[in-house]
Amino acid sequence: MNPKYLLAIETSCDDCAVAILGHDNQILADVIYSQIDPHAPFGGIVPEIASRQHLGRIAGMVQKALSEANLKAKDIEAVAVTNRPGLIGSLLVGVQFAKGFAQALQIPIIGVHHIEGHLLAGLGEPDFPEAPFIGLIASGGHSALYLCDADHQITTLGQTRDDAAGEAFDKIGRLLGLSYPAGKEIDRLAQTGDADRFEFPIALRSRDTLEYSFSGLKTAARLKIEKQVLGEQDRADFCAGLQKAVAAALLAKAQLACERTQIKKLVLGGGVAANSLLRAAAEELGLREGLKIYLPSKKHCVDNAVMIGKAALRRFRAGERAAFDFPVEAS
Ligand code: KG4
Ligand code: ZN
Repeated sequence: MNPKYLLAIETSCDDCAVAILGHDNQILADVIYSQIDPHAPFGGIVPEIASRQHLGRIAGMVQKALSEANLKAKDIEAVAVTNRPGLIGSLLVGVQFAKGFAQALQIPIIGVHHIEGHLLAGLGEPDFPEAPFIGLIASGGHSALYLCDADHQITTLGQTRDDAAGEAFDKIGRLLGLSYPAGKEIDRLAQTGDADRFEFPIALRSRDTLEYSFSGLKTAARLKIEKQVLGEQDRADFCAGLQKAVAAALLAKAQLACERTQIKKLVLGGGVAANSLLRAAAEELGLREGLKIYLPSKKHCVDNAVMIGKAALRRFRAGERAAFDFPVEAS
């Protein structure tokens, strides 16, 4: 099956995202309500608030996507929704809405793994590599390396033992007095910073493991922040050094994964892949090591529904059908 118009919904965390794709991955609508404000006073995501926000927004966001695409609900021929992993209350809102929508129109629905979405966010783009490829997904909830094989089966090669890279940015950003999520602001501050002034540790440097660890970085950052009052230039230098260490840590293991598997294609994704230094360093790595690097647009690095739609379209084309009783899984 290759649906003419597919509706995709992503509510696994704090973004209420809806997209409509054409059968050839054409993006007809791509709307997101980012719940930054309601969570801001708490310095992080409050699951209860997130699910209530999704509940209040989802119908309106679907309506907004339909009008952006100039379509009516009855034009939609298939539905895709993130059903794992994520905050259970948030996932349930998206999945129940999607199932109701599909049920009412008697059209097929597919549940998509959030990471599969991140890995396939670039599908249909001219420079997106053919599988097999190695995926590096770094976000607020994940920092991991994956093998996407020729059949698009995804295996985890290594993941973080503790914090995710984005989580480390957000927690350290909080110590710096930045609002949540801090990654983008750290990226901005770092633009005018000297990356060599503050040194941050890179954990698990050994070539024996494809795992990450970012908790030591967090402690090192806290100790530096407690030791001195950081002025404006100090903060810029601090952020520059911090993102340099994170980018080096992420890419060292990605390079190792490519070497071990002999796969010379690396796809990045997740919110941290929007980081300008990581993007530049990944391009450099590609040139130096002869790897084909794929970077989604910044908009499609962070959570979005286009990536869920693309993963689902691939599955539909491969003949997959989903029953209405697919589960919702937090992890
Ligand atoms: O993929 P995403 O939108 O949501 C999760 O699945 O977690 O990623 C959000 C994470 C946050 O931790 C945020 O601070 C980080 O991505 N982030 C960045 C940048 N933009 C977002 N980190 C570094 N540099 C950026 N430009
Ligand atoms: Zn994500």
